[in-house]
Amino acid sequence: MQALVYLGPGKKALQEHAKPAIAAPTDAIIKISKTTICGTDLHILKGDVPSCQPGRILGHEGVGVVDGVGSAVTAFKAGDRVLISCISACGKCIYCRKLMYSHCTTGGWILGNTIDGTQAEFVRIPHADSSLYPIPAGADEEALVMLSDILPTGFECGVLNGKVQPGSTVAIVGSGPIGLAALLTAQFYSPAEIIMIDLDDNRLEVAKRFGATSTVNSGDGKAVAAVMKMTEGRGVDTAIEAVGLPATFELCAQLVAPGGTIANIGVHGTKVDLHLESLWDRNISITTRLVDTVSTPMLLNTLRSHKLDPKLLITHRFKLGQILEAYETFGHAAKTRALKVIIEA
Ligand SMILES: NC(=O)c1ccc[n+]([C@@H]2O[C@H](COP(=O)([O-])OP(=O)(O)OC[C@H]3O[C@@H](n4cnc5c(N)ncnc54)[C@H](O)[C@@H]3O)[C@@H](O)[C@H]2O)c1
Ligand SMILES: [Zn+2]
Ligand SMILES: [Zn+2]
Repeated sequence: MQALVYLGPGKKALQEHAKPAIAAPTDAIIKISKTTICGTDLHILKGDVPSCQPGRILGHEGVGVVDGVGSAVTAFKAGDRVLISCISACGKCIYCRKLMYSHCTTGGWILGNTIDGTQAEFVRIPHADSSLYPIPAGADEEALVMLSDILPTGFECGVLNGKVQPGSTVAIVGSGPIGLAALLTAQFYSPAEIIMIDLDDNRLEVAKRFGATSTVNSGDGKAVAAVMKMTEGRGVDTAIEAVGLPATFELCAQLVAPGGTIANIGVHGTKVDLHLESLWDRNISITTRLVDTVSTPMLLNTLRSHKLDPKLLITHRFKLGQILEAYETFGHAAKTRALKVIIEA
């Protein structure tokens, strides 16, 4: 089969690779129909994720058809159409019992990281019963690919952890796919204001179409003043960090109102300063989270009832044979205006 293989920092190739086989009774083999590329795959290619070793097939998102199951799999059978979660969960360990699937002792974020991933014709999914979801009849496969990772991430790490409330004020720093996923799912709660902040005017325009009440280009260094003006000097109840840089976390710390919450989503690779000297008396909370994908069943329902249209995030489409071109397009988003690219296997 064909697969996109990580060959060390800065190196990747579309290679011929052996088809995966069942390795444990709880495994399933999935024939991939559609997959995509995540910002995290770019982090891996930069060499930022040491757990991902050369030789690994990348990808942790996708939908497909069950090709075969191990003897202990009871929820799925060959021919079933399934959504693959970016997080594998045994459902039984101490963390899974707390619904903290991201820290499953024999799962978590392993796909396209410590085991081969979804950017291939076939993938092996461990703990299949609790890591796959049946695709509802009539559901759009492309839209569903957005539910493997980015929608649950924006919702769980940003909106839930950030305690977005009806009538509250929200600022989201970063208008990439994850920030936009937080923007879409924040609207479940009808906040009064959602202010999107980015350096890229194209992404801010997209954010307006997705329901942002205002946008701020922070390139001039005056984002704090702009947000204070919009909030009568108070700041926002929820400041969501969806970039993963020291500057954007510090911006959130300056934007949060007394009693508010800073919800960090971004993956941070370097030290970030925490200015407790200006935060200690502000009654704020700071949260961090690796997506657990516990909200996937709820998100599937909102998709089915058209309360959510994740297809809005898809800007480009490629075949698996063109995946290197797909990486080029996704990796140069400012130029290509890419958000999410769909790759058909
Ligand atoms: N916590 C989790 O479980 C989890 C899961 C998936 C992704 N992530 C992380 O979420 C973050 C966002 O992901 P993404 O795919 O949307 O990334 P992305 O790179 O596509 O988007 C980031 C956005 O931030 C903007 N930006 C960059 N520097 C900025 C600055 N100084 N000020 C304002 N805006 C700035 C960029 O223009 C871009 O639009 C990444 O760090 C990713 O690794 C976390
Ligand atoms: Zn991802
Ligand atoms: Zn577990």
